Amino acid sequence: MNQGAKTSGREQGRKRRSAIVRPELEGAFPEHIAIIMDGNGRWAQERGKRRIFGHRSGIDSVREATTNCARMGVKSLTLYAFSVENWKRPRPEVRYLMRLLRHFLVGERRTLMENDVRLRGIGRLDDLPEPALDELRSTEELTRNNKGMLLRLALSYGSRAELADAVRDIATDAKSGRLDPASIDEETLRSYLYDPTTPDPDLLIRTAGEMRLSNFLLWQVSYSELYVSDACWPEFREEELMRAIRAYASRVRKFGALLEKGGARTEAMGPGPRDDFTLG
Ligand code: FPP
Repeated sequence: MNQGAKTSGREQGRKRRSAIVRPELEGAFPEHIAIIMDGNGRWAQERGKRRIFGHRSGIDSVREATTNCARMGVKSLTLYAFSVENWKRPRPEVRYLMRLLRHFLVGERRTLMENDVRLRGIGRLDDLPEPALDELRSTEELTRNNKGMLLRLALSYGSRAELADAVRDIATDAKSGRLDPASIDEETLRSYLYDPTTPDPDLLIRTAGEMRLSNFLLWQVSYSELYVSDACWPEFREEELMRAIRAYASRVRKFGALLEKGGARTEAMGPGPRDDFTLG
């Protein structure tokens, strides 16, 4: 852990930008990567340690994923750090995770600044204990003008909660006359999500071998490529990340449309009969 807490504001604000080095790939590079960081507890228990040891080690993987993605020129990295369901875990574990979050938000400031990373929280952030929320807001503020990668931490996040929150706000605006119900379309709904301006993830990675979405970004990953790694999060390091990125580069994305040679999408043509129709 960096000692950001002990450095002055001026030191924390100092930047050392390293050049972006894109890896050579056979295909496309993912601009937005989202990760379900799973397997901290299992990793620790397999080593005869307490679960919290896995969470603490998970911080090293968070730092490594953040710096590697920033240096490769990934535009956004979204990490599932704490779900709405995680509040149901035993109190000591929840308390530890909240302390770890605070520690991370303070301790990683220098790394975020050095790598030109902007930090943003998404989720029901008001659920967080005040000290954690205060550090989140301070780190968001400190990194606000950074121009490199956006690091989004999903905190007290649940996709169903996000959709319910959006629908409630839409209903409120429709009732007050600010929004015409007849005009509501997909883009309207998107505009009420927690962070509507960040493009959807291209690649969704889940660690620890589970094949589930666990209520993460359900709207936003509609067309994301999925990649499951058997590595538990504390052991998900550069080599595993590169394996996921190379797997993404080898995929062909169609977004439900047809593909032309070279991967370009066919021209949009609204619904209706076509006599030259072929299944894509
Ligand atoms: C899943 O492991 C992971 C979490 C509950 C949260 C992820 C948290 C971290 C990586 C550490 C904190 C991160 C930040 C940014 C402060 P699990 O406990 O569900 O593992 P298991 O499935 O093996 O039990």
